[in-house]
Amino acid sequence: MAAPTVATTREELAALLADARGAGRCVGFVPTMGALHEGHASLMRTARQRIAGGPLVVSIFVNPLQFGAEEDLDRYPRTLDADLEVCAREGVDIVFAPSVEEVYPGGEPQVMIRAGALAKVLEGKSRPGHFRGVLTVVAKLFGLVRPDVAVFGQKDYQQLTLVRRMVLDLNMGVEVVGAETVREPDGLALSSRNRYLDPEQRHAASALSRALRAAQENARYGVEVARDEARAELREHLVDLDYLVITDPDLGELPADVPPGTAARILVAARVGTTRLIDNMELRF
Ligand code: PAF
Repeated sequence: MAAPTVATTREELAALLADARGAGRCVGFVPTMGALHEGHASLMRTARQRIAGGPLVVSIFVNPLQFGAEEDLDRYPRTLDADLEVCAREGVDIVFAPSVEEVYPGGEPQVMIRAGALAKVLEGKSRPGHFRGVLTVVAKLFGLVRPDVAVFGQKDYQQLTLVRRMVLDLNMGVEVVGAETVREPDGLALSSRNRYLDPEQRHAASALSRALRAAQENARYGVEVARDEARAELREHLVDLDYLVITDPDLGELPADVPPGTAARILVAARVGTTRLIDNMELRF
C-alpha cells in the first residue's frame, strides 16, 4: 500500500505528471472535495480500470465558489489524513490538495463557466450559482491535470450531466465516465452528508432509495404510476420533499407519450432533519 505523492502547488503537480505525459501514458482523474468514503473509492477503481498503469490523480479541494452565502463552507468536513489513507488503499499515484489561494490566486475569478438553463432547475433552483462554481473549478482542474479520463459519480447526476455538456460544448477532449452510485445495504446512497443523520433520520433517509426502486418496479405502467408509487413510499416517512421528477437521460422533458423501452431518469431531493439528500436511478418504460 504505497502512499500517494501529495502536490499542493500547480508546479508540483505539473512536475509529477511530466514524465507520464512524455511517455504517452493515460492520465486518470477523480475530482473530490475530500471526506472520502467507499463511493469515492469506487470512482478511483473505475478510473484505474480505464487507464491501466497510467497515473491516477485525485484532487481534494473544498471549492468555495460552489457554496452559497447561506451554505456553511466552514462546516464542510475536512479529513485529509483519513482521505490519504483511502487514496493509498486504492493505489492513487498523486493527490492534488491545493489551498484556495493556489486555485484562485487572484481571488474570485472574473471569467467563469456559465452553466446555462440546466443549472437553474433541480439542485440549481435551491442553490443558485452552485453549478457555475462547480463547472469553473472542474474546468480549472482539467486545465491543471489535463486528464484523458475523468470519473464522476452518478449520485450527483445533474453535476455529471453538466460536466459532460461542458466538455462537449467547449471541446475539452476529456472522456467523462459516470460511475454507479454505491449504496448501504438498505439502499441509502453513500454521501458525506449521511454523517449528519441521527438514527431516526438515518432510517427515514433510506425511504429515498426505496421510492426510486418503487418507481423502477412500476415503470412498465407508465410515468404517472411510477411517480405516484415513489411519492407513496416517501409519504410514510419524515422526509421533507423538495422535488421528485422523471426526465429523459439528459435531464430534458420526456415526450407526452413515452414509447415502451424509453430510458429515463428519476431524481429526488429531500430534507431529512436539516440534512438535504439527493438520489436518482435509471428507469425504463
Ligand atoms: O462532486 C464534488 O465533490 C464536487 O462538486 C467537485 C466535482 C469535486 C467539484 O468541486
